[in-house]
Amino acid sequence: MDEKNFLQRLEKIRGRRELATTDLVSILDLSRDEVDLIFNLAAEVETFLKGEMKKVPLLKGKSQMSFFMESSTRTSVSFELAGKNLGADTVNINVEKSSMNKGETLLDTAITLDQMQPDIIVMRTSFSGAVHFFARSVKAAVINAGDGMNEHPTQALLDLYTMQKFVDKDLKKKKLVIVGDVLHSRVFGSLSRLAKMFEMDITVSAPHTLIRPHLEAWGVRHEPNIEKALAGANIVYALRLQTERTAAAFVPTVREYSKTYIINAARMKLADKKAVVMHPGPVIRELDVHTNILETNVSLIPEQVFSAYCIRFVLLWLFGNKRKHKQIAKRLFKA
Ligand code: NCD
Repeated sequence: MDEKNFLQRLEKIRGRRELATTDLVSILDLSRDEVDLIFNLAAEVETFLKGEMKKVPLLKGKSQMSFFMESSTRTSVSFELAGKNLGADTVNINVEKSSMNKGETLLDTAITLDQMQPDIIVMRTSFSGAVHFFARSVKAAVINAGDGMNEHPTQALLDLYTMQKFVDKDLKKKKLVIVGDVLHSRVFGSLSRLAKMFEMDITVSAPHTLIRPHLEAWGVRHEPNIEKALAGANIVYALRLQTERTAAAFVPTVREYSKTYIINAARMKLADKKAVVMHPGPVIRELDVHTNILETNVSLIPEQVFSAYCIRFVLLWLFGNKRKHKQIAKRLFKA
């Protein structure tokens, strides 16, 4: 697709629409209409990113910083590559080598980075809520790339987009079964909220030690028996055991947990015959999902990664002109 044609198509879908939010901290920062707009734009971006020439000047002259305080492969690479494809100047902050290592606070780091006038800061941290704090402290538009056990909104967007593409455009009443470490999972935090926005039927299957208190308030059902939970499932979404967040201490042994909750071919026979398996990655083979599923078309895990690239391309474009013009940092000191 040539550049002019692509840009015209994008502008036609977007029209004069701007997202109401200046930062993407929680999935609830977006309305259903805004999510639909993001998905329609991503569908257009797909062909472009699969083409020979993957660069357009939509963010030319803008700067994008990635501030990742935790490990990442697909999230950091997709954001960085999409930013480069859009023509932004991208900078990765190496936290191990940053001044936070010398004792600088998160707030001071935020203020320092913001003085470089970035338009967008993409942030990942192990501290739940820190992205919200950061977003209130800087003028740059902040995109949450995962904060502790709280939320991972861009992951939920790419997941629902993938479900619409491969399962059904209309996800209402489709049975989503989320399996595994719901307690520590920020992916669950955003996915369950977005799936609810799409009126999906959500079941969680996990041991009692790995679910959240008051789970019923989330509008999801808990079925600890995986065999029962999988009956009639349209989408089986496996979560990684968050061992870096002490999850291994919540199960008798990791082997026992895996035996009880692993998604394998025998278990998938209990689900709908067209059911698919999804996972945010990284997958721990033979612990979360068995190879006899990973190497079949039942697994949408590679497709989720391509969706990640397209969705993040769209988000960067939409957040590229969201730099706030108020003196936000000062407000925090007065409070
Ligand atoms: C997830 C994360 O970091 O929250 N991964 C991702 O972004 N694709 C899930 C996980 O690490 O288990």
